[in-house]
Amino acid sequence: MTQQRQVALVIGSLRAGSFNRKVARAIEKLAPEHLVFHETGIGDLPLYNEDREQDAPAEWTAFRDAIRPLDALLFVTPEYNRSIPGVLKNAIDVGSRPYGRSVWAKKPGAVISASIGTYGGFGANHHLRQSCVFLDVPLMPQPEAYLSNVKEEHFGPNGEVTDERMKKLLVRFMTAYADWVEKLVRGPGELADDAKGKPAA
Ligand code: FNR
Repeated sequence: MTQQRQVALVIGSLRAGSFNRKVARAIEKLAPEHLVFHETGIGDLPLYNEDREQDAPAEWTAFRDAIRPLDALLFVTPEYNRSIPGVLKNAIDVGSRPYGRSVWAKKPGAVISASIGTYGGFGANHHLRQSCVFLDVPLMPQPEAYLSNVKEEHFGPNGEVTDERMKKLLVRFMTAYADWVEKLVRGPGELADDAKGKPAA
């Protein structure tokens, strides 16, 4: 049996009826079973302010502590004004500090963007990729997942994806993601060291 891998699931929308959250929930069921998902909430994180590091808010510490021991990252996000929602950028900034102790570094990751629009959140997807490059997150290059024209009818009453095209894409994506994680994830000892992060300018 393949060893379990613990995945931080970071969802870029706070909306109760969020399509991205629906996609994330569906993914948990479509993904290979050895991937265990942990949603790391981002809605209660105080806005990042370096001045507060001396006496960091408990929410920042809890968020960092939740992500640090996990093996991998999966971002599922909407696009706001051709970029990522501010709440997600805030979470990325919180996780990236204090200097040299980023919780993101070296964890294999992937990005899915879902939008009601035609472009499937392409802009957000790539802005997030840009931050991940800087944060030393090895991001899965292919396949890409820009879910466009997402609507309520694409999901069933129990959150399952009923749209066959989307389902097929997500199964293919999650199979590739599982391979990506397996190739890149380190042993627990090494992960603990890596989780300290590397200095970033
Ligand atoms: C949007 N939306 C949007 N869609 C898109 O494809 N490109 C964009 O740049 C934007 N910009 C944008 C800005 C703001 C402030 C809002 C509130 C919305 C629409 C967006 O795709 C839609 O609201 C999704 O339903 C958001 O995802 P969740 O919350 O359903 O996961």
